Amino acid sequence: MKKIDISTYINKIKLTSCIMNASGALCTTDKELSDLLNSSSGAIVTKSCTKKPRKGNIKPRYFEWNIGSINSMGLPNLGIDFYLNFFQNKKIKKPIFLSISGLSIEENFFLIKKANFSKKITAIELNLSCPNIKEEILGNNLYKISDFLESIFKFNKKPLGIKLPPFFKEKHIKNISLILNKFPIIFVTCINSLPNGIFIDINKENTVIKPKNGFGGIGGLIIKPFALSNIRKFYTFLRKDISIIGCGGISSGKDIFEHILCGASAVQIGTQFIKEGISVFDRLKKEFIIFLQKKNYSSINNFKGKLKNFQ
Ligand SMILES: Cc1cc2nc3c(=O)[nH]c(=O)nc-3n(C[C@H](O)[C@H](O)[C@H](O)COP(=O)(O)O)c2cc1C
Repeated sequence: MKKIDISTYINKIKLTSCIMNASGALCTTDKELSDLLNSSSGAIVTKSCTKKPRKGNIKPRYFEWNIGSINSMGLPNLGIDFYLNFFQNKKIKKPIFLSISGLSIEENFFLIKKANFSKKITAIELNLSCPNIKEEILGNNLYKISDFLESIFKFNKKPLGIKLPPFFKEKHIKNISLILNKFPIIFVTCINSLPNGIFIDINKENTVIKPKNGFGGIGGLIIKPFALSNIRKFYTFLRKDISIIGCGGISSGKDIFEHILCGASAVQIGTQFIKEGISVFDRLKKEFIIFLQKKNYSSINNFKGKLKNFQ
């Protein structure tokens, strides 16, 4: 049987498997990160961190059902020092993406500067799209984003990518791409949770999470079409050396195929990882390889970005 290669590059960073966790999915604590280090994921993304540890929002703040999840976590994390120290003395065989999510522009500068000093951090995933904090989402403010990136690249030497909120109009994706294309960004991760849905417990006639009167970011299977459309449009408008990491609604090998067909170079697993635990990476890898065998593809480059229009 033909050997199937699911390795990939995010710009110049090599991943032996194109499947990794999404930030916020079981990647906050020592135990969770240790499990990820020992797993078959192609890379590790940390929980988005802030300068100081944060407890996050009041519980219950996460709920899942058969085709989706809703959360309003409020960035609970152990603070950047914990994440930098965790990797410091570890033997690491895969790329480490430090996700950062400062609550202000100044805090982001501080976090990026700090990450620049750590040899163990391969790249920074700058989260400009957390829907569950009261501060403004920078990913939606094109003027601020441009100035912000200009300042960052005056001092930043680490490979850096951006995690974006979902966009719903072509002109928004085009406009943000025009800005991103001006900077030495190496990847874009799309999409973050789809902001502000409500899920209802019909017996109790109430919301299922407590913060923000039950409004929260939506993940899981039901957001896949929005993830795919964002990947597809960014693939059209971004510079070709900016890799796309697809995230949103992946729970099978077929879903991974769809993300890559739209233009993703790698994929992240959020809700399904939380539901299934660490074995999700072995299962998805197997399913994806079997899927490619059936399609007679030997590597992801055979079909990456090659989605055809209806004919
Ligand atoms: C419980 C939970 C916590 C999350 N925390 C973060 C986070 O800290 N940083 C971030 O960039 N995205 C965070 N996300 C968003 C996910 O990384 C991902 O973009 C989103 O869930 C869509 O992927 P999915 O459909 O596979 O869940 C979180 C999602 C969930 C469900």
